[in-house]
Amino acid sequence: MSKEALLQIRDLTKIYTDDSGEKTVLKDLDLDVEKSEFLCILGPSGCGKSTLLRCIAGFEEYSGSVSVDGTQRREPGIDRFMVFQDFNQLFPWKTVINNVAYPLSLNIKAPKAEIKERALEALNKVGLSGCKDQYPHQLSGGMKQRVAIAKALALRSPIILMDEPFAALDAMTRSGLQKEMLSISESEKNTIIFITHNIQEAIILGTRILVFGQQGHILFDEKNPMQRPVTPASEGYGELWEELHHALYEGSLPAKTSK
Ligand SMILES: Nc1ncnc2c1ncn2[C@@H]1O[C@H](COP(=O)(O)OP(=O)(O)OP(=O)(O)O)[C@@H](O)[C@H]1O
Ligand SMILES: [Mg+2]
Repeated sequence: MSKEALLQIRDLTKIYTDDSGEKTVLKDLDLDVEKSEFLCILGPSGCGKSTLLRCIAGFEEYSGSVSVDGTQRREPGIDRFMVFQDFNQLFPWKTVINNVAYPLSLNIKAPKAEIKERALEALNKVGLSGCKDQYPHQLSGGMKQRVAIAKALALRSPIILMDEPFAALDAMTRSGLQKEMLSISESEKNTIIFITHNIQEAIILGTRILVFGQQGHILFDEKNPMQRPVTPASEGYGELWEELHHALYEGSLPAKTSK
């Protein structure tokens, strides 16, 4: 593992305890994520993908360590911003610009005008400056997700954690947001960890793709060899899709790539 990884996870073990007893979801997980990497994570339902993001975000207690830039992080912080699948992650009583400005006003000391300017700049990046004075109920699901992304951009969070952010969108809106995410990640250089159930989405977006097995272990972890922009017609797409599909649905690597 390289020394310079922005995010370093070591021996991460998460055990949930409830009425039915203890459940180990992640065990001794090691993972390095480099600066500017767009890591897409696939895995069967219940294998611990959201749990991993929640541990990285500091929302869960766990054993092991999560470090950003060499410093352990156990609590939430603006260096790791979470975008959820749920469209209702905005304050309904605040306008779009105030939704973006609010976490900024809590976390940076700057005059109000400067905070508004930074919020507007972030809204511009997701193509929503024209909606700055609207309220969340006036926005479509896709627009709400873009506002959530704008919050991360305004905070300049180096790590953006995205838990199936586009799963509830229609195919056309989803494709538009994928394109926007690609251009944002290329221009802003954030490090993005993006969970999806959609193999195509992982291939289109990821510079690296990781597949978890049912027990929360890493089955597949490779740099994406495909040149962007990727479409299903791109050379090598079918082979990679088959490989990921096999890992995801069979819980093992296809014979030719077994290590
Ligand atoms: N608060 C909790 N208490 C007890 N068990 C939990 C809790 N949260 C999650 N789990 C269990 O941990 C396991 C992993 O959950 P997690 O939400 O991380 O899965 P996931 O991979 O994100 O699944 P999905 O793809 O369905 O979103 C599941 O078995 C789930 O029931
Ligand atoms: Mg989940």
